[in-house]
Amino acid sequence: MPPFLPRRTGAHAPPIKIQGIKTRLVPWIAESIHWQGDGRWVEPFMGSCAVALNIAPARALLADSNPHIVRFYQQLQNGAIDARIVRQFLEEEGAALLRKGETHYYDVRDRFNARGDPLDLLFLNRACFNGMMRFNGKGHFNVPFCRKPERFRPALITRICNQIAWAASIIRENDWVFKWQPWPDTLAAVAPGDFVYLDPPYVGRHAGYHSQWEAEQADRLAHAVKGLPTRFAYSMWKANRYRSNAHLPKHFAGYRIETTAHFYHLGASERLRNGMQEALVIGPAAGRAACGPTPQAPVASSLPSQASASSWFSRPSSC
Ligand SMILES: C[S@@+](CC[C@H](N)C(=O)[O-])C[C@H]1O[C@@H](n2cnc3c(N)ncnc32)[C@H](O)[C@@H]1O
Repeated sequence: MPPFLPRRTGAHAPPIKIQGIKTRLVPWIAESIHWQGDGRWVEPFMGSCAVALNIAPARALLADSNPHIVRFYQQLQNGAIDARIVRQFLEEEGAALLRKGETHYYDVRDRFNARGDPLDLLFLNRACFNGMMRFNGKGHFNVPFCRKPERFRPALITRICNQIAWAASIIRENDWVFKWQPWPDTLAAVAPGDFVYLDPPYVGRHAGYHSQWEAEQADRLAHAVKGLPTRFAYSMWKANRYRSNAHLPKHFAGYRIETTAHFYHLGASERLRNGMQEALVIGPAAGRAACGPTPQAPVASSLPSQASASSWFSRPSSC
């Protein structure tokens, strides 16, 4: 039987947008990696879910530290959200936005920050400045309005509903688990035969994700990834026009590294929206077995203790 990957895939956009989204890079990712498809596709940093949705593995473990995107996809999976519900919601909220202007955007933002409803997240994500997903230190969504009250025209609502229907069909046809958890918990659950795709926040590029990302944590992740006895692919920026990323030679000398040019369209500042050279580190390194003993022991030894992990990842009581 041919392997599940590499193969040619499309690049469909998911319903949720996030800075660092990999939609356009999925064909390159899918053609760069080798996997039989026998275990689970594991993503500790699933973000918008663009990669998993386009790869469409039969079994997946998808996790993120942002509780809102995880809850959004869990509700799409259990049917609490579907294309019909989204259409009705966006038609009503879009009409209110047209009538009241930016006041309505900020009312929905306050409502979302009080209750965390995934439909409000979708509205905000598609009506905010530049399609960003940014939170302040209190975990409150803080992106301003895009200043287009006429935003939710019928064509846009239909496009979003098609994205919802596409994502829901892939999630419901397959055996996927969505988890709100920090990356160490996800890596600790990796088993032989799984394939791990990692797309963490990029070191040295502040993106305003739901939790902080410091160089020390990036180093810890690199050590944990190198301890995985499974195959993995690790997205990373290689260079932009100002500098190159020291994290790559520091941690991944000796690994196969694929590169391609990419332009990130989502970002708060002009600097974050620049073109860059994108890297995909493919593991394990030559000479290291892809499958071996269960990963728990080597991974756990390079992960933070329970106490230190909880100090940088605190769960709001509502989830
Ligand atoms: C670059 S984005 C992933 C983009 C994704 N591949 C896509 O195509 O949309 C990085 C993700 O890592 C998540 N994240 C940040 N810190 C995390 C942590 N400590 N544990 C798990 N996820 C984290 C962010 O919430 C964000 O969704």
